[in-house]
Amino acid sequence: MRTTIRDIQKMKRDGVAIPMITAYEYTAAQLVDRAGIPMILVGDSMGMVVHGHPSTLPVTLDDIVRHAASVVRGSTQALVVADLPFLTYATPEHAVAAAQRLMQQAGVQAVKLEGGAPIVSAVRRLTELGVPVMGHLGYTPQSENQIGIRVQGKQADEAATLIADALALQEAGAFAIVLELVPAALAEAVTQRLEIPTIGIGAGVHCDGQVQVWHDLLGLYGDKSPRHAKRYAEIGAAIETALKDYAGEVAERSFPTAANSAKMEPEALNAALA
Ligand code: KIV
Ligand code: NA
Repeated sequence: MRTTIRDIQKMKRDGVAIPMITAYEYTAAQLVDRAGIPMILVGDSMGMVVHGHPSTLPVTLDDIVRHAASVVRGSTQALVVADLPFLTYATPEHAVAAAQRLMQQAGVQAVKLEGGAPIVSAVRRLTELGVPVMGHLGYTPQSENQIGIRVQGKQADEAATLIADALALQEAGAFAIVLELVPAALAEAVTQRLEIPTIGIGAGVHCDGQVQVWHDLLGLYGDKSPRHAKRYAEIGAAIETALKDYAGEVAERSFPTAANSAKMEPEALNAALA
């Protein structure tokens, strides 16, 4: 049985920290399930780490639907949350249309929207209609042309706005909120004031959970990974070594061996060639 938003909220009440990771396709989702991570984000970070764009802005709803469907097929345990892409939730009606595709065509269990007060009406409409919504405050990458890539909430007025936005999202029905690039002390204060879980990324250890990008965590994005990411493995280096070994063995004709090849009775071949 898949994790539900109620399970995630119970983890906060029980003081159990919530791990979350992005995944963009079937085999990755299978691995997340096997690792017992309860929540997957099909993030619009795919724009950068999968599609090679400079930001999340070019990601389309079609992109997210296709990747999210693959993730849903690869998992049976994790709650799958998908990002609504840039400018697909400018009004509650647009948000509902986008969420409909993600829930009906891809089969995700929840959607994530970036922002505070301006999107509260969309969050309320979605939750009224039965769509679980995850909020996203602090550094919101879809607004990078406006806010720059930097920690959000260091100044008192910014911090007060962030706290008010978090409470407004909770009141509108959000089941959890991502806090990205927020000072640890502010993230802790928000976490204490909310009944719903906070999921941090670059927001300190006192959030109720943490989310990381697959490629950052596994050493697949080289030097482009942000400072707050920790590399738990060097899969990129392991792949490079494997590919070089493969190419080398092809070059020296030590791959494939007889064990990798199909046999044939010599008489049958002789008869065919006669
Ligand atoms: O798209 C993404 O990966 C995200 C996380 C960084 C929270 O939104
Ligand atoms: Na995102």
